[in-house]
Amino acid sequence: MSASKPPCILVVDDDLDLLAFLAKMLARKGGYEAVTARCAEEALDKAQAEPPAAVLTDIKMPGMGGLAFLQRIRTLDPAVTTVLMTGHGTIEMAVQALKDGAYDFVEKPFDNERILRALDRAVERTRLMRENARLQDRLSGQEHDHGFVGRSRRLQQTLELLRRVARSNVTVLIRGESGTGKELAAKALHRLSSRASRPMVTVNCPALPEHILESELFGYRKGAFTGADRDKTGLFAEADGSTILLDEIADIPVSVQTKLLRVLQEKEVQPLGQNRTFGVDVRVIASTNQDLEAKIRRGEFREDLFYRLKVMTVTMPNLAAIASDIPLLAQHFLDRYSREYGREPLECSTEALQSLMQHSWPGNVRELQNTINRGVLLCDQGVIEPADLWEEMEKPPALGAAMDLPDDIAAASLARLSYQQAKNALLHRFNAAYLSQALRASGGNVTAAARDCGMERQAFQRLLRRHNIDSRTYRDG
Ligand SMILES: Nc1ncnc2c1ncn2[C@@H]1O[C@H](COP(=O)(O)OP(=O)(O)OP(=O)(O)O)[C@@H](O)[C@H]1O
Ligand SMILES: [Mg+2]
Repeated sequence: MSASKPPCILVVDDDLDLLAFLAKMLARKGGYEAVTARCAEEALDKAQAEPPAAVLTDIKMPGMGGLAFLQRIRTLDPAVTTVLMTGHGTIEMAVQALKDGAYDFVEKPFDNERILRALDRAVERTRLMRENARLQDRLSGQEHDHGFVGRSRRLQQTLELLRRVARSNVTVLIRGESGTGKELAAKALHRLSSRASRPMVTVNCPALPEHILESELFGYRKGAFTGADRDKTGLFAEADGSTILLDEIADIPVSVQTKLLRVLQEKEVQPLGQNRTFGVDVRVIASTNQDLEAKIRRGEFREDLFYRLKVMTVTMPNLAAIASDIPLLAQHFLDRYSREYGREPLECSTEALQSLMQHSWPGNVRELQNTINRGVLLCDQGVIEPADLWEEMEKPPALGAAMDLPDDIAAASLARLSYQQAKNALLHRFNAAYLSQALRASGGNVTAAARDCGMERQAFQRLLRRHNIDSRTYRDG
């Protein structure tokens, strides 16, 4: 943060007049920037958007009260310092709050000087706590251990959020389009956490059929079902003391969702065929590129599980949102692949870089990475040219020639159609061929096909409907 920006105080109270008064007073007399919130929920959102230097909160509020809020904000950001405002009859609560980690309290009616002094100390304490955490990170060599490349503001904000939530134990939901670095983010969360010394357990949810997913996650006792000829430890037990990543969580069946909810609520696991449960200490990270809200509406995803998961949501930016990082990312992948293939260091020509900047990247960083990989393989000099990056196919095809036109719109008859009709006819045919080919390659698996095409599953499915294509006809057997 720049030195000129005044420290930000998050002020929480359900009394609007008081909020306005405090904001003005803190700005005028304390030189602070006040961010106000009318309830704890709003305050948590705002603290997530920008970490405050200190929090000044009422202790008695409708909805989530001051004590619960204190706990939540401390999980979110262990370094932030909280000062409570107490009214008549809340002294006992204030004492409890001090035990729970509040730093100080001020009594209503206020003495402005007293508030300012308390906040000055609180801000200083937060600064020291953050500095200390940074030093510890550096000492353990984790400063750049997140694996992300890029200096854009949007990416840096995301990394800052990852760093902050890493230290807590909250469940994190990582959202984002395909190829935006969701798995990389999960690894970073684990590596930056106090659990880093133990390996993270990753579960690729859609890869496992329903009954296997359940027994893999929770384990089973010998004899629990036919074929269970010995006890099996589940992945949750394996991840005890560490982190579990439930990758592509949107695809897990509702029965497994129900069991999962129990684990998140009770922190207990019950293996199949066993009556007793046992406790586990596992930090859960879930990722998805799907529209969970739509799945909830269709009854395919449990709403209560969704709310459990999304307490802390990290949304990975798509490549368009961090387009200024494309040159840096391209160079990063160039270095990586030229090293991997034992080549001299390579660089991009200006034209190649321009073409990279102009591309729309539906497959995000992963697509960029693959494009550079191919470029390094194809390039026979020290400089990558556009021709090394793009296949012929990706250039606009010569009308008719590349399209293998059907009789109804054979090249000769194209001219007789209006421009719009000709375009629609070609587009329809292209879409149908493209979608069928993708489904054939994935054996009728819509999620996999969408991913291979660099598309959101929902968008892919919309296209299927529009072109009257039934994915089931592509399933094996
Ligand atoms: N900012 C970045 N810097 C360097 N590498 C990145 C960055 N973002 C993503 N990557 C790389 O891009 C590739 C795709 O990332 P990742 O697998 O984490 O994406 P994802 O969102 O999980 O994709 P999918 O939805 O397809 O599973 C990985 O090789 C990852 O290391
Ligand atoms: Mg992934």
